[in-house]
Amino acid sequence: MANARLESLRDYPFERLGRLLDGPPFGNAPPINMSVGEPQHEPPAVVRELVDRGHPSWNRYPPINGTPEFRRAALGWLERRYRVPAGMIDPDAMIVPCAGTREGLYMSATVAISPSETGGAKPLALMPNPVYQVYVGASTLAGAEPVYLPATAANGFLPDLDAIPAETLARTQIMYLCTPSNPQGAVADLGYLKKGLELARRHNFLLVADECYAEIYSTDRAPPGALEAAVELGGSLDNLMVFHTLSKRSSVPGLRSGFGVGAKKETQLMQRLRTYASAATPIAALDAATALWRDDAHVEATRALYRRKFDMAEKVLGGRFSFYRPAGGFYLWLDVGDGEAAARRLWEKAGVRTLPGSYLTKPEADGTNIGTPYIRIALVADLESTEEALNRISRVL
Ligand SMILES: Cc1ncc(COP(=O)(O)O)c(C=O)c1O
Repeated sequence: MANARLESLRDYPFERLGRLLDGPPFGNAPPINMSVGEPQHEPPAVVRELVDRGHPSWNRYPPINGTPEFRRAALGWLERRYRVPAGMIDPDAMIVPCAGTREGLYMSATVAISPSETGGAKPLALMPNPVYQVYVGASTLAGAEPVYLPATAANGFLPDLDAIPAETLARTQIMYLCTPSNPQGAVADLGYLKKGLELARRHNFLLVADECYAEIYSTDRAPPGALEAAVELGGSLDNLMVFHTLSKRSSVPGLRSGFGVGAKKETQLMQRLRTYASAATPIAALDAATALWRDDAHVEATRALYRRKFDMAEKVLGGRFSFYRPAGGFYLWLDVGDGEAAARRLWEKAGVRTLPGSYLTKPEADGTNIGTPYIRIALVADLESTEEALNRISRVL
């Protein structure tokens, strides 16, 4: 016996990449990995201090919903970052910690999808294409059918919400949106987010806003968030869950700490689901996360570092491969003609690991794939390695 839905999922992009680039890199220069969105910057020192200091807590089960201090630190950041009015969010009923946004994004599908409520037709889960693979796995395993909304250069790399057919919306139980988006770095404006939330309310589905790159941007104004859309629509969080993480903001993907904020009903169902299914975040990690959400100075420094890396990238690659400077996130999304061939050449001739765009996109029925021409380059290494890698990429391509 095996779960047929689980067996139907295709391999995760990095497993496919492992097969594509299974040989040694060219030459003796140290390889540089730009395939994974894993910030290599030095994490703030407070993380180590607090995790070390937290040793008396290792013989206690951590509270599944995090500590009150953690939830209040998350709320404090939301109020500063999105000007959420005081009193709008009850931190105990509307904030739920998660082991990285990945866990919350996954669990959202279990919370929202109820196959018995669509009169026999399979429920639908809307998601952008290119897609974060977790949306696919989560909704498939919960019994829904993923529906991929193209996010191409032609529509500003964001799904066209006006183009979703009424029959599709009628069967939709969840919609994932990602802003700033991975891999293209597109930022949804407030009007777009309001439209997404209004659609969710009109057709009674859950809008899940994946805002894990919300703090990495090169624009003067910080990217708006779905919470601001909720404020403009009157302040209710009905039909909405938003996810944030420290992985990118504070360069601590190893801490596995994020949180969800949203409608009371969904938040409470997620808290219930976590009591059954989740490995709660350790208290020492919650203490470190609390300190990080309270501080914005280290994030400003991180943003400045990414800006310098984008400056370098623009100098070295600007004017080629449809280079553009994304509004948010830390990826380059380059049109190189054939992404798989380019990724293989970059590994074999330059020792640089990048990700073919087609590993992040769903192929069409006729075999075409909107990701085929692209590679994704994560600017997550230190300045020196980034400069070295960009020069090697320029030489080989
Ligand atoms: C679009 C997107 N969502 C969610 C995540 C998960 O991040 P984490 O679980 O570390 O918060 C990632 C990680 O790369 C991502 O790219």
